[in-house]
Amino acid sequence: MLNILKKWKGSSQTTKEETIVKADVLKGEIPEHIAIIMDGNGRWAKKRALPRIAGHHEGMKVVRRITRQANELGVKALTLYAFSTENWKRPKTEVEYLMKLPEEFLNTFLPELIEENVQVRIIGEKNRLPVHTLRAVEKAMSDTKRNTGLILNFALNYGSRSEIISAVQKIANDIKNGRIDETAINESLFSEYLMTNPLKDPDLLIRTSGEIRLSNFMLWQLAYTEFWFTDILWPDFTEQNLLEAIHTYQQRGRRFGGV
Ligand code: IPE
Ligand code: IPE
Ligand code: MG
Repeated sequence: MLNILKKWKGSSQTTKEETIVKADVLKGEIPEHIAIIMDGNGRWAKKRALPRIAGHHEGMKVVRRITRQANELGVKALTLYAFSTENWKRPKTEVEYLMKLPEEFLNTFLPELIEENVQVRIIGEKNRLPVHTLRAVEKAMSDTKRNTGLILNFALNYGSRSEIISAVQKIANDIKNGRIDETAINESLFSEYLMTNPLKDPDLLIRTSGEIRLSNFMLWQLAYTEFWFTDILWPDFTEQNLLEAIHTYQQRGRRFGGV
């Protein structure tokens, strides 16, 4: 009935009341790589007169649910923006809490991730991470490195501009040492020097909380990605919202510059 109504109205937009059924989404093309800017934890807490860190804690639980759903849908890679190179500007106590979250998340959920065949990876500058944070993520990466299901890729202390600069530095160094010739530089070689290598570029980018910007996230990789923005705050984001984003994605016509 809803489909008929939609066609009649000539609209492919879904209404708030419409429930997207997982089985229907599975009939369409599932984006292989989904990237999410998980934003709005602070505002979620503020609305409830709670400290900002309560929002981050709640957001962590959503990470678990969305990872499970993405894995069940057959998504191959899920990149989650967890901490940007600019987030160090925040109050020390908030930064310290955010740096404890990966451990808390992995202490609670790593066994489940292993069981579900999820492979954990990270992108970002590892050198500035506290030792305890790095230890937790490295253990998770090593414990899951042979898993063949969803790649759960955390962008932790990640900034796209800094990633691009460091790729340029590595390329310059490889030319100097004779490992590559400068004539070999092309888009595909450049991508290999980025932290996301060997992941394919995201098919779908989701940003929660109503902000319509990239905040230094995957500037190179998002060149032809489909964007889906929502006002929902990250701690309120549900499996149904993920289905909604994928459903919208399935109705887009990706042309990559062609006709
Ligand atoms: C996103 O939520 C989490 C991180 C950036 C670590 P915010 O903490 O940015 O929440 P808002 O944007 O202040 O609501
Ligand atoms: C982007 O959110 C970074 C993460 C979600 C980790 P921010 O909250 O830091 O972005 P701005 O400051 O609103 O652009
Ligand atoms: Mg924010």
